[in-house]
Amino acid sequence: MSVPTGSLRGSTPVSLRFPTEPTRVTPDSDPKSFLRKLPKAELHLHLEGALSPPRVAALAKKYGVELTAAELQQRYNARSFAQFLELYKWATSFLREPEDYAQLAQDACANLQEEGVVYAEITLSIGVMLLRKQDVRANFRAIRKVFVERSAASQGPTAQFIFDAVRQFGPAPAMEIVELAAEHREQGVVAFGLGGDELSLPFSEFQPAYKRAAQTGLHLLAHAGETGGPEQIRDAIDLLGAERIGHGIAAIRDPSLMTRLAQRKVPLEICPTSNLRTNALKLQLNGSDLSLLDHPLPKLFRAGIPVSLSTDDPAMFHTTLVEEYLHASKMGLSLDELLQINRAAFHQAFLPADRRSALLLRIGTASSA
Ligand code: HPA
Ligand code: ZN
Repeated sequence: MSVPTGSLRGSTPVSLRFPTEPTRVTPDSDPKSFLRKLPKAELHLHLEGALSPPRVAALAKKYGVELTAAELQQRYNARSFAQFLELYKWATSFLREPEDYAQLAQDACANLQEEGVVYAEITLSIGVMLLRKQDVRANFRAIRKVFVERSAASQGPTAQFIFDAVRQFGPAPAMEIVELAAEHREQGVVAFGLGGDELSLPFSEFQPAYKRAAQTGLHLLAHAGETGGPEQIRDAIDLLGAERIGHGIAAIRDPSLMTRLAQRKVPLEICPTSNLRTNALKLQLNGSDLSLLDHPLPKLFRAGIPVSLSTDDPAMFHTTLVEEYLHASKMGLSLDELLQINRAAFHQAFLPADRRSALLLRIGTASSA
């Protein structure tokens, strides 16, 4: 199988051969359409973060709230992590019944299809559902039905799910979420994760929840080193047994941690635009006037740390997965490196070997996997 090489900005046409759907694409003439056609995996995507302004407006209307374009625009312009959490809280307040989640799932699935994503691990903020005293089982049934049906009709990716707790809500709901996740393992829930505010409660408080999750066979994830320091990443690995780290960009401040991540092959789920919009980038690099060109992704990748690229909350950060790949290219990563990152995402996915191989076949790398 030929593996394309060269820079997206170079001049050599590149051919990609897919075993099932032979395609010829020339990244030099149109990198965006090349990247869109490339079958991709996305591992860090919050379903609720795919709530678009029009969808929020429609849901608000359903519940008797008329939102103005100005309010939507102002809310969807988060410039700090605190503003982002506020937006997340506000937008999700209009998700009130399973049908609302089903509509959101339709939007997210259509976007993933449009972006050429063939495999997605979708994070669900079960902590938020519990806080609002919703029927988690009914919400999940509605969400899953959309993904299963669209995937069967080739209108969306194969999806698996991550049940996420919210750190500042504490360990009791986290344990409840582990049990709910374990109950739904046969329905495609593969992991338990923890998001929210890293600077709220220490990871040590969540050890019992992670221990229980491991006992039930769930994979273990944690957001760490996004707004918190490198010690958060160490604790996620050492105290919780996290198998992949959400963000983890704080590692760039700690060379010995970088070596450890590279040696132990602990993947980081990198979400560049999110890091810019929440100010996590500025916080970690202690700089001002930073742009995406300052993102540590190339350094982390070239240090041998397994990384993948994701959007995190695409509607809230006004991004798409293809845009994230284009940003990575502008950071200086070559086309070959971008393809390595995409291929690695399939290897980092929580998939059984046969399904992984089938998906890898679609990117033409099964023989070199
Ligand atoms: N970090 C923390 N909490 C979140 C995020 C994130 O990136 N996205 C949604 N909730
Ligand atoms: Zn996230």
